[in-house]
Amino acid sequence: MAAVISGLGGALPADVVTNDDLCRTLDSTHEWIETRTGISERRMVAKGQSTRDLAVAAGARALKSAGRDAVDAVVVATTSADRLCPAVAPEVAHELGLGTVPAYDLTSACSGFLYGLASAVGHIASGVADSVLFIGAEAFTTMVNPEDRATAPIFGDGAGAVVLRRGTPDEPGAVGPFDLGSDGSLADLLAIPAGGSRQRSATGGPVAGPVPTEDWYLHMEGRPLYVQAVERMAASSRAVLDRVGWSVRDVDVFAGHQANVRIVRAVAEELELPEERVAVNIGRVGNTLAASVPLLLLDAAVNGRLVPGNRVLLSAFGAGLSWGSTVLTWPELRVEEVV
Ligand code: UT7
Repeated sequence: MAAVISGLGGALPADVVTNDDLCRTLDSTHEWIETRTGISERRMVAKGQSTRDLAVAAGARALKSAGRDAVDAVVVATTSADRLCPAVAPEVAHELGLGTVPAYDLTSACSGFLYGLASAVGHIASGVADSVLFIGAEAFTTMVNPEDRATAPIFGDGAGAVVLRRGTPDEPGAVGPFDLGSDGSLADLLAIPAGGSRQRSATGGPVAGPVPTEDWYLHMEGRPLYVQAVERMAASSRAVLDRVGWSVRDVDVFAGHQANVRIVRAVAEELELPEERVAVNIGRVGNTLAASVPLLLLDAAVNGRLVPGNRVLLSAFGAGLSWGSTVLTWPELRVEEVV
């Protein structure tokens, strides 16, 4: 028994924000951003648009791709849910007309797609569900200080979704095994200090006292994170390849979390994976956290970079710290370009 990917869809907000657009109010340049990150433009939610809207759009396309109008459960990986409470997944399930199925969020930042996929696969493996809609969705630009040049150029909004169904391990699209890990001793390297129970309880009551404005936004220590990202994704990739019995030469496409094109290339170099086997789409979308890997897979599938039968290595790293990797053989899927 295995969980098999039978549908894939994505969604991006309409608003394209170029580096030059950002640099009108940010102390940076297009050249710096493109050279240091590989990003030329990203999408950002418009006023009134939220993670739920992106998740619903991507979820609808994944269901269409799978040719289904019902699933047994909905899981949303997001670190930018519409509200601190409740989870966004029940609303997403409702908006998609999926009724009263179990639905919950999972917060694992940039490794959200790998953690969420493992969780969705677990529902099928345990017999809790025969099919799961799993969505990575983020409007994370709302969590970033637009005046902070360390973070503002990096993130973008979007959503990517897969439908999983019960199948057999030898089928194309069968997901797994996984390697997952975390290191909470480095949690402060990437964090939003305010808004959670730690900050609230410090005031002795439910209403927050004065909080420095910057604490409502993401804090990021770029350099140490960069080193961790390369080391963790490379080690995790090796671990999962060992587990499945593939060598690096068996990998046709490396779909690594799009944090920074230099990180993706450095991981590939560590693994001795040639550049032509490395999927990259960060230039147009930036770092979309939990939506990054499914949007990358969709982009590669639409562009013919990823074809049925390809052996794919998926790996991600992010806040927590947390990381994860898995493998699959690419299945026949109906895919629609995200515009
Ligand atoms: O998604 C998973 C979690 N996130 C990550 O894994 C992010 C990992 N880190 C990175 O991708 C990179 O560290 C960054 C893209 C964030 C930064 O790139 P970097 O090459 O590590 O730059 P840096 O922070 O070492 O800064 C180099 C210089 C500094 O100036 P000095 O001290 O050399 O004079 C910065 O002040 O670049 C300066 N700088 C900028 N200049 C123009 C930093 N940000 C900017 C900017 N525009 N936006």
